[in-house]
Amino acid sequence: MKVTDAAEIGGGPLWVGTSWKMNKGLAETRQYVRGLSEHVARAGLAGVQPFVIPSFTAIAAARDELGAHSPVLLGAQNAHWEDGGAWTGEVSVAQIKDAGAQLVEIGHSERREHFGETVATTRLKVAAALRHGLVPLLCIGESAEVKRAGESSRFILEQAAGALDGLTAEQMARVLVAYEPVWAIGESGRPATVEELQQPFADLGREYGDATRGLLYGGSVNLDNAVDLLGIDHVSGLFVGRAAWTLPGYLRLLELAAAHPKAVAAATA
Ligand code: PGA
Repeated sequence: MKVTDAAEIGGGPLWVGTSWKMNKGLAETRQYVRGLSEHVARAGLAGVQPFVIPSFTAIAAARDELGAHSPVLLGAQNAHWEDGGAWTGEVSVAQIKDAGAQLVEIGHSERREHFGETVATTRLKVAAALRHGLVPLLCIGESAEVKRAGESSRFILEQAAGALDGLTAEQMARVLVAYEPVWAIGESGRPATVEELQQPFADLGREYGDATRGLLYGGSVNLDNAVDLLGIDHVSGLFVGRAAWTLPGYLRLLELAAAHPKAVAAATA
């Protein structure tokens, strides 16, 4: 199946995507993705670019449900930077592309914390994704300790620069960056306030706002805070875990984004 290149998919201006982390088998993946496809075909989504990121094992099934030219982008949660070789247990960018992925998540805080992901490996992975024509979705974010020390901006700008410095303007324009403060992610996280996010996004916006394909926010996004988060300057999307693990939850978030002034302005421009 020759899948539409991610570069040919319009995108945005608002991106709303979900990673399912280590959840969902084949049947559940197919059911979710089928429902999503039907919804998008029926309702349209002017101004919003959806993306879903299942487990490696379910990427091919998700692609099968979406077909080759779906407006929904399909991603993987990680990939190795080498195309192949003696890397037991790893999956390459070439392989996820072969399975139907168009996007790859790189440097999620859970990968950095539990699997030794470093700035150096995120850099290699961004390069591999670009080499294969996939959208790198680079995740950055500081811990609670770094935030308490008042070092958030310095820390996230270093993570971003470490992974992205040296890219050409054309390569940079294909990258998505998700700012996901570690203290805001998952069951043990607490939602960030709009106020807390102003400075990080001002800093990221200055460095990467125009240069990249988009700046997303992630970490305890839910139906109650999504609209306010989208309203923050330089935020051009949401990267969602738990609140989008059910299809109705994800569809509601897509609808909220589609009705947001940032999406409406672009759709009617
Ligand atoms: P959460 O996950 O929305 O469940 O906090 C976000 C993430 O890990 O990207």
